[in-house]
Amino acid sequence: MNPTLLTTEVPGQARCPYLVVRDPEAVREVLHRPEDFSPANALLAVTPLTGPALRVLQRVRFALPPVLASNDTDTHAGIRKIVAGFFSPAKVSAMEPRIRELAQEAAAKAAEELARSGETDLVQTVAAFPPAVVMLELLGLPVKDLEDIKRWGVDSMELFWGWPSPEQQLQLAKSAAEFYVWLRQLVTDSLNAPGRNLFKSLATHGLSVPEMCSLGYFLLIAGQETTTQLVSTALFRLLEGSDVVEGTGRLDGSRSWKDAASPDGSRSVISHVLATESSVPTWRRVAALDTKLGDDLVPAGAEILLELSGNLITADAASPVRPPRKTTGQPSKASALVFGSGVHRCLGAKLAELEAAIIVQEAAEALPGITLRDTDPDWIRFLSFQAPRTVTVARGQP
Ligand code: HEM
Repeated sequence: MNPTLLTTEVPGQARCPYLVVRDPEAVREVLHRPEDFSPANALLAVTPLTGPALRVLQRVRFALPPVLASNDTDTHAGIRKIVAGFFSPAKVSAMEPRIRELAQEAAAKAAEELARSGETDLVQTVAAFPPAVVMLELLGLPVKDLEDIKRWGVDSMELFWGWPSPEQQLQLAKSAAEFYVWLRQLVTDSLNAPGRNLFKSLATHGLSVPEMCSLGYFLLIAGQETTTQLVSTALFRLLEGSDVVEGTGRLDGSRSWKDAASPDGSRSVISHVLATESSVPTWRRVAALDTKLGDDLVPAGAEILLELSGNLITADAASPVRPPRKTTGQPSKASALVFGSGVHRCLGAKLAELEAAIIVQEAAEALPGITLRDTDPDWIRFLSFQAPRTVTVARGQP
């Protein structure tokens, strides 16, 4: 098998539509050659949308013109600078006490629910809401409709990165349309609101309302749901047990629930989970022209899937039925690439790491002695996103 590119063909399965790049050096090279390997396919639906789903989106004039993650033109740098201003290192550091306050409130809510009913789902009580509140506050946007934002985020991830059936697509498209209509209203309201906010800054930079909706659509999902998913996986792996289990992502004994209650312990868990099974394990590019990667010819239009975390990509990358994937439990050499690299590198990397470590730490401190009630939960397994959907725990021994 060619070491740089991997195209997989499995008897009885569709051929993987992507050129898969796993070697960290080659992944880095692709990310650093945006003229050759464009991000234009970043937000394309993995499963082509059916007529009925498209009509639902068209009715609300849903459109995702390239502005940030999928923008391969020279307007990208200026727009990125505006967005980056809301997540500067100084702004993120200044947010730390607020993140801790939200994490403590969430952990206390989980403790209350445990005391009241004997169990709680840590995805809902601990992981879901703090990242969404932090993101909205940093962007100068109203903190409202959080339950809807969470639901819209996961639905849109499935619509664009999953393998929904035509019936599921229709439901997901309705959710995406609802989100888009809400977003357009948010943009309009924000332009007339007092104080500084993301959309005012983008309008001053010259972006149109559809462009601002496109940016908001990506950012309001990427800026919080990915962190929720990282926290969910970290909580699950910590509570799954502290033994090393061959062929799984389980954490070793040095990363126990008890150790996670310290700042160093929680940071170490987050680094480990990012390296082994990040919430964004892959990302896409498309060859803009006939080009080469190492010794390999890559034809114009070839869709490329980059492995950013773990050693997860197998033939099932093409499969509509995604079996649970196993990680080696060993940090991948690519761990420096988990937030991408180059001109499109994630603008929320520091924020996400900080939030995730604080949320895990506060939960571990507030909830000693809890055990996992459901050891085999359903997982989100989309092309570029993954996490357990629930982390249900109980007090004491199972
Ligand atoms: C665990 C959480 C997160 C992970 C794993 C993650 C991962 C990624 C990855 C892999 C990319 C693509 C990079 C590339 O194309 O080179 C990306 C882009 C991006 N991320 Fe994140 N992200 C996370 C959280 C966040 C947060 C909290 C924010 C909010 C500030 C954010 C904002 C963005 C933006 C704006 C881009 C597009 C940047 C551009 O195209 O210039 N992400 N992220």
